[in-house]
Amino acid sequence: EAGLRRQLIDIHEAATQYFEAQLKSPEAARAREYLTGRGVTAETIAKFRIGYAPDDFNDMRDRLKPHFGEEVMRASGLFSSKEQADGTQGQLYARFRKRITFPIANEQGKTIAFTARALDSDEKSGPKYMNSPETGLYTKGQVLFNLDKAKADMRSHDFALLVEGQMDCISVYMAGIHNVLATSGTAFTEMQVRLLSRFTKKIIVNFDPDTAGANAAEKSIALLTEEDFEVKVVTLEGGLDPDRFVREHGVQAYMAALRTAKRHSDYLIDRARQLFPARTADAKVKALNFLLPHIRRMPNRIHRDEFAADAAQK
Ligand code: UTP
Ligand code: MN
Ligand code: MN
Ligand code: MN
Ligand code: MN
Repeated sequence: EAGLRRQLIDIHEAATQYFEAQLKSPEAARAREYLTGRGVTAETIAKFRIGYAPDDFNDMRDRLKPHFGEEVMRASGLFSSKEQADGTQGQLYARFRKRITFPIANEQGKTIAFTARALDSDEKSGPKYMNSPETGLYTKGQVLFNLDKAKADMRSHDFALLVEGQMDCISVYMAGIHNVLATSGTAFTEMQVRLLSRFTKKIIVNFDPDTAGANAAEKSIALLTEEDFEVKVVTLEGGLDPDRFVREHGVQAYMAALRTAKRHSDYLIDRARQLFPARTADAKVKALNFLLPHIRRMPNRIHRDEFAADAAQK
């Protein structure tokens, strides 16, 4: 319903402003220190509308209550409530607490959800990142972080850079590479691929250089090549994710690393050799079995034959 949708957009804007204001409050001193420690400047905070959710169950609800109805507040996903003994839902309380907040925007730049990072990494603080649940506005698999800011440069440069995390995306963007998007650590979906294809069909994938990142890269490559995207893959040295790489080595070094991006077929062949390094027939069979689904998936016959020939040779 259009009315509810409008109100959900409004409450997300109000929440964005609330978190932004909270980040300036005395209570948020540690949050500001945390951000400074990670090289996040005032300019970055303003650009990405980074905020702070205070360690308080009630404040946000009480501030928004005069402006929004109970139904909208419940439907927003910004609050939680506990089921009562009689089966009804209890009072709303703030979902995000003691966390740095990052708005997730739609293509038009309107906030439709949040992801929020814990300041501490102890068990009590819960998961490192906590995300909005799916709502009438937000479907996880249909959104790409930073699409609103990246779309113009994606078109003009005719490629997009895909990273895992919000902080990777933000650091790379602030370093001047504007056609960058984040998957937010989840498996890339067909909907996201279709969304991307409206802007470009060339992608550089730069996920974290760890097992999770390699697995996510393989899945993303599969989805993208199936839709005939030209995919290249970068693996950064030293175990650094893009955020840390840019901060430790600078944007020139990062751009140099991007220039070493491998064609996805070469990346996968190297990966197969890494996973099955033995020179035995058994290892070769396993390596080919790893590669075959990727080879089969390619819709373009010429590219497929070339990939198969390379794989066989190596
Ligand atoms: P990472 O573990 O690589 O986190 O997860 P990160 O982006 O480097 O985070 P920082 O630098 O420590 O702040 C990659 C992405 O997976 C999602 C987030 O989107 C994160 O950016 N994620 C991770 C979650 O949604 N929840 C989690 O608990 C952890
Ligand atoms: Mn630009
Ligand atoms: Mn990671
Ligand atoms: Mn990181
Ligand atoms: Mn990371």
